[in-house]
Amino acid sequence: MRTARNHVLEVLAEHSVDDIAEDVQLIVSELVTNAMRAAQRFAVNRGVGWAWYERPVALRVIYRPAWVHLIVVDPDPVVPDPAPADLLEENGRGLSIVDSVAALHWWMPGDHGKACHVVVTREQTPLKPEEADMLRRRVIL
Ligand SMILES: Nc1ncnc2c1ncn2[C@@H]1O[C@H](COP(=O)(O)OP(=O)(O)OP(=O)(O)O)[C@@H](O)[C@H]1O
Ligand SMILES: [Mg+2]
Repeated sequence: MRTARNHVLEVLAEHSVDDIAEDVQLIVSELVTNAMRAAQRFAVNRGVGWAWYERPVALRVIYRPAWVHLIVVDPDPVVPDPAPADLLEENGRGLSIVDSVAALHWWMPGDHGKACHVVVTREQTPLKPEEADMLRRRVIL
């Protein structure tokens, strides 16, 4: 988790992204925590355990002048079924926070797990439909 946070901080600092740095860090924390848990559950269900450093979880940070695109990959092919968000609950808030901050958020199941994609725009500018479409279509996993 610290590695993920440090990596995203480095990328943001390199490009002087200040306005959305907090939101991006929050999303990375939520998604990487979920992905680490999903990886562990996936292993335990198959009768093995993974230490945190063995879990095949990956974070990619793609910087563009108008947005930051985060991709978190984990080995569990099951895509979460979003339960109705209740922000007063103590657990189960991560994904609703992500949804409230992200301009775009989607999942891509694949043969070796899934990827969670989140796009955060500078100054919370909404994406144009053609930009959202382009972003979704360009990714393979
Ligand atoms: N990467 C993932 N793979 C599989 N299931 C997931 C993943 N991320 C979330 N989920 C499922 O979606 C549910 C909701 O996720 P969310 O992050 O909103 O809440 P939480 O992780 O249970 O609690 P909190 O984030 O508040 O600590 C999780 O409980 C989990 O069942
Ligand atoms: Mg969570």
